[in-house]
Amino acid sequence: MAINTERKQFPLLYVHQHSRGVIGWGAHKMAGQECQMYGIKHALLVTTGLKGTGIVDEVEGVLKASDIAVTRFEGVTSNPKDYECKAGTEAYLNAGCDGIVSVGGGSAHDAGKGIRIMVTNDGPDTNLRDFCAFLDPHYTTRIPTYKPVMIPQVAINTTTGTGAEGTAFAIINDEEWVYKLILVVPGVGPSVGINDPAFMRLQPPHMVAWAGMDAFCHAMEPFIGRFNMPVVHGVALRAIKLLSENLRQAYANPANDVAIENMAWAQYVASMSYNMGGGMGMVHGTAHMLSVIKDLHHGYSNAIMMMPIERFNVVAVPERFKEIGQAMGLDIHHMNPVHAADITLEEIERLRNDVGIPQVPLKEFDFTDADVEHTAKWASNDLSREANPRDITPEQIKEIMRSCI
Ligand SMILES: [Fe+2]
Repeated sequence: MAINTERKQFPLLYVHQHSRGVIGWGAHKMAGQECQMYGIKHALLVTTGLKGTGIVDEVEGVLKASDIAVTRFEGVTSNPKDYECKAGTEAYLNAGCDGIVSVGGGSAHDAGKGIRIMVTNDGPDTNLRDFCAFLDPHYTTRIPTYKPVMIPQVAINTTTGTGAEGTAFAIINDEEWVYKLILVVPGVGPSVGINDPAFMRLQPPHMVAWAGMDAFCHAMEPFIGRFNMPVVHGVALRAIKLLSENLRQAYANPANDVAIENMAWAQYVASMSYNMGGGMGMVHGTAHMLSVIKDLHHGYSNAIMMMPIERFNVVAVPERFKEIGQAMGLDIHHMNPVHAADITLEEIERLRNDVGIPQVPLKEFDFTDADVEHTAKWASNDLSREANPRDITPEQIKEIMRSCI
């Protein structure tokens, strides 16, 4: 039998553009000008409400000062749902909006993206499943048939973790499938992402911790991932360094201006790691299932799944974990990669514990064997599996999930 000498895994890789960004203290004051730049005269302000912070009122005031009309849509919840996007689309069309301003964390930004996809297509009758990126059939074969999203979105970010204010896809719950759709549509990345530490320091400590561990996974997964793209290695390591040097301090004291500003950068740089082409891995693949089945916060779910998955993955890429450990400041340069990787995993776990997130057994969330089966079925065809550094079968997904119960 002839041996095939062609490169089998990923002979072609795609480097993606990140959204424009405005970062700094008081950056939210640029929202009106940014809307004008993209031709938004009447914005649908998409948010979860951010009750008690005053942020939504503040943003509405900034927009109105620039003569931007505002219709509020506060019908978004954590783990944004398909029916919420439908309601937002109806609100957008009824009010005659011409753009989106999303205010909040990833839920608001992704709901804004979902609404823009629906408005671009058949309005409230659009089925978001038609735009879901699966491995089989591979999503890249369907993208050329999609209508590009031309509606502008100004994404004002309030958490130190999501990255969704700059990324080119949306994650929306399909409530009937009990699955998080990964929507990859040309043009769906926000026109601009605004990161203002003045908003971020209003987060409660547990949100800093959850969002921060999400950001850590955003840097770690592409760095160890099998797409192995040099373009993302630098930003991923820098994000890991910033996170390991600032997350504890920001969690302990969200009003620590230096720590929260560094976290604003850390989450932004971390999101570039996967969005520019590094992809995700099975921490996100399994955490998405945990989130959608038990409605747990995305960052918290990642924090729960990161150690079981990476202890499975480490055998494929011990040298990469050694580099992560060095970025975290560990003195391990003299060690062989296998031992260095062990110490790095302990350090990552310690960071997670230090910000108040212990390894909680999944039975605490009533996660059952039926949930294990459901997770394995859907996570196997999830985009996150493609870049995971180690081959992982549905049976292995089940074994890992059962070990977490
Ligand atoms: Fe994430």
